[in-house]
Amino acid sequence: MRTIDWVDGAIELVDQTLLPHRLEMRRVTQLPDLINDIQRLAVRGAPALGVAGALGVALIAADAQRAAGDGVGDLDEVRRQATLLREARPTAVNLSWGVDRALTALNEGADAVLAEALTIRDEDIAACVSMGLIGAELTKELTGKDPVRVMTICNTGGLATVERGTALGVIQTLFEQGSLEEAFPLETRPLLQGARLTAWELQRMGAPFRLVADSAGPFLLSRGIADAVFIGADRIAANGDSANKIGSFSLALAARHAGVPFIVVAPESTIDMSTAGGADIEIEDRGSAEVTGFGGTRTAPEGTEAVNPAFDVTPHELITAIVTERRVILLQAGQTLRDTPLGELRG
Ligand code: MRU
Repeated sequence: MRTIDWVDGAIELVDQTLLPHRLEMRRVTQLPDLINDIQRLAVRGAPALGVAGALGVALIAADAQRAAGDGVGDLDEVRRQATLLREARPTAVNLSWGVDRALTALNEGADAVLAEALTIRDEDIAACVSMGLIGAELTKELTGKDPVRVMTICNTGGLATVERGTALGVIQTLFEQGSLEEAFPLETRPLLQGARLTAWELQRMGAPFRLVADSAGPFLLSRGIADAVFIGADRIAANGDSANKIGSFSLALAARHAGVPFIVVAPESTIDMSTAGGADIEIEDRGSAEVTGFGGTRTAPEGTEAVNPAFDVTPHELITAIVTERRVILLQAGQTLRDTPLGELRG
């Protein structure tokens, strides 16, 4: 199953707001619908947002070309709409990266834009396979254990990419290699991506896991429940500081306290060398309602205001290593993003 794809002239995506209760695909043919789907997290996760951004530009370019009847259409209007799309969510750099990369083909026409978007989709599929293999090998090396027990947060699986996932892709690879003792996904308040999506994916793969309340994660690490922590990323700054789902930073602090490797798994497209450090990363604020209630039921007294950052930033000092599809950057051993060369894709 692909989380997002181009099928018969439209974007098809899994509506993740319905999981784990219903697995339903949505067909998206209009830009406002795509933007709305991104904002309400029907499609989510940094790499999937990159593909959504690129396919969204393919939609707009095809519309412009159709409207013109002849030639490529009004490219300024395509660029204006693409700006709306790239700004739909601010933290995951993959969204603007996917939009901008698809736009590079704009002068050659809508078919060329679609071809570029499909290349991004295919690269994402290959990158996840490679990250899984590299990450699994690194985990065994760093922990000296096989099988291993791992903790993770949010959803970084096939649902957050096109097919296989980043951090959860490493867990899947470990499982396929017979090297996963148990996974501990955090439930991931306030929108429960861990409970709704990661638990669903782990169950479908048949992997052993137990769900953990967010506030129990750091304590359980201190009690030695896991050998490593894996997270994904929405944006990795040039110095290695990594933005990811809120709660990642607390896990990193606890992992350091417990002496457990803390590994960020993300494709090269999540690295943003134009952002110097974590303080420069815009953090999406998703407003009070997600914290003061859930699924349409209010849980806090009426009128309660909440602070709701969707992401936090883990400083590079707390990150053992960053794994991409092309390299491992051992931050804790003093390696840097600037100095670590790209290697080959694996798998
Ligand atoms: O708000 P979300 O669900 O889009 O947040 C997603 C995350 O924080 C993921 O960990 C990140 O995008 C990496 S996905 C491979």
